[in-house]
Amino acid sequence: MTLELECRDFLLGLKVILRYSVFADSEAIVRSVELVNEGKEVLYLERILSACVDMDWENGDLLTLCGSWARERHMMRRPLAFGKQLVSSSRGESGHQDHPFLAVMKQGTGQEQGEVWAMHFVYSGNFIAEAEVSQFDSLRILMGINPEGFEWVLNPGESFTAPEVVCVYSDQGLGKMTHTFHDLYRNHLIRSPYLHKNRPILINNWEATYFDFNTQKLLEIAREAGKRGIEMLVMDDGWFGKRSMDEGYLGDWKVNEEKLPGGLPFLVEQVNKLGLSFGIWFEPEMVSPNSELYRAHPDWAMQLPGREPTQSRAQYVLDLSRPEVVDYVYESVAAVLRSAPISYVKWDMNRQMTDVGSGFLGREHQGELFHRYVLGVYELQERLNREFPELLLENCASGGARFDPGMLYYSPQIWCSDDTDAVERLSIQEGTALLYPLGAIGAHVSDCPNHIVGRITPFETRGHVAMAGTFGYELDITKLTEGEKRQIEGQVALYHQFAPLIREGDYYRIASWGENHRYDCWQVVAKDKSEALVTYVQVLAEPNCHSRRICLKGLLPEAKYQVEETGKVYTGALLMYGGLLLPRMEGDFQSKMIHLMLFTE
Ligand code: DGJ
Repeated sequence: MTLELECRDFLLGLKVILRYSVFADSEAIVRSVELVNEGKEVLYLERILSACVDMDWENGDLLTLCGSWARERHMMRRPLAFGKQLVSSSRGESGHQDHPFLAVMKQGTGQEQGEVWAMHFVYSGNFIAEAEVSQFDSLRILMGINPEGFEWVLNPGESFTAPEVVCVYSDQGLGKMTHTFHDLYRNHLIRSPYLHKNRPILINNWEATYFDFNTQKLLEIAREAGKRGIEMLVMDDGWFGKRSMDEGYLGDWKVNEEKLPGGLPFLVEQVNKLGLSFGIWFEPEMVSPNSELYRAHPDWAMQLPGREPTQSRAQYVLDLSRPEVVDYVYESVAAVLRSAPISYVKWDMNRQMTDVGSGFLGREHQGELFHRYVLGVYELQERLNREFPELLLENCASGGARFDPGMLYYSPQIWCSDDTDAVERLSIQEGTALLYPLGAIGAHVSDCPNHIVGRITPFETRGHVAMAGTFGYELDITKLTEGEKRQIEGQVALYHQFAPLIREGDYYRIASWGENHRYDCWQVVAKDKSEALVTYVQVLAEPNCHSRRICLKGLLPEAKYQVEETGKVYTGALLMYGGLLLPRMEGDFQSKMIHLMLFTE
């Protein structure tokens, strides 16, 4: 249900429609703004935010999510000080560095107690999120498209709709805020048919081979993976043009038959015969200078007149404000998907924007390019979903640089980070799961020493951490020991047992390694309280520590729960207020999963 408030500036001839959408099953309010030029003059929009809330304020904190490549969405809590505090992106994507989210909370707010006001932007481009403490003990929080580099020409009769902001209030701390976001996104944002289904357990060849693969290598991986219960092979970057490094051919979406003789139809058929479905990687929004596409259409790259655009990862960004570019990109991706039974696409985007100029938009409209680009991406993904409704789409942007609710509308899962180290992932996934349901978080078990940080962690721990996400593998299975392959079989069975609970349940934070520097713990409880799954990671072993007391959350206090592993039965109240004693484990990076079920005598 949406309340629309119409406001008019008669001098400008401007109508402003403020929209407040509410849902019967949610406490969130979704706010957006539309501007209509009802006058006779052209209007130039230089700043159009989507939500702004003023409130009385004394002491409290600001919570944001920040980081970098391979360190995305770490929680950052700081006291709110007088003046403006701002997070933003002007990189053309929501970004690795800041996330389009902020929360302000009263002093002393924790997981279960305290008041929180949060905003999250349903948008995938430049944004600002700002909190301003000012005179008279007042606070203003606001969110919208970043005004830097933005100007929109609104001709008479035209309208402009600014993207939605999800506003959430919680009087029971961050935990309730998290539940509100998770439920809203599951019930009202993600529309993929996969939303309530187990996602296929996939194996992606990126960390296994990087660019160095061919049909034979992929089939070796698929064969071994199939034997262990893995359900899908995903072929990552390097299958097209003559790409053997990240140096060229983006835009030339034709199979490299030297690597893959017989092309996709042959490869996909062979993979299917091994019992696996097939997925493929694209980076559709980009063009390499060294590509047929760029040689034919150098003007399709974003650029400033008379200047050579800056390369990043040896590539340029396509100007998606041009309808013919959107059509070309769509057709080249769709042609590949039509050529073979492909079940999954990983849609990547590996550079930020510079040289933000368009030879298509006139001089007056250059300030529209950032936003028109985002609309171009949405148009592409809309078309893809329409023509291939059964396709499982996973968005990705150099890891997690475009993990936002805007992209989540089009793809039920998003690759969370290129950092697949189990310990690094604890903080990345904690920050991500603050807002996003676990079923949306792309997470894989990868090889050790980890390719990003060089850390060696037990295979079991890597599995437990990846299970707080979509779950899959990103390693050369043919090089694993028989013991590790057997562990994969066990993890596959665990995933099948717990995926529905992890995907649909309520998520609770019990301990944060980022805060205590020793251990991490989270829990998922079924909506009907019939079962719960606790994951505990002992990051660093401690001396003279016999056991750790973990107080569970979200159970029925009067009910009895049985721990699957030990058979012991406890009341919910005892588990929540007395706690479960976990014996100390030997060594760093150890983990444990504890499954509890309602017990009836
Ligand atoms: C960045 C992604 O995050 C990786 O998983 C991989 O797909 C590479 N791009 C490929 O270039």
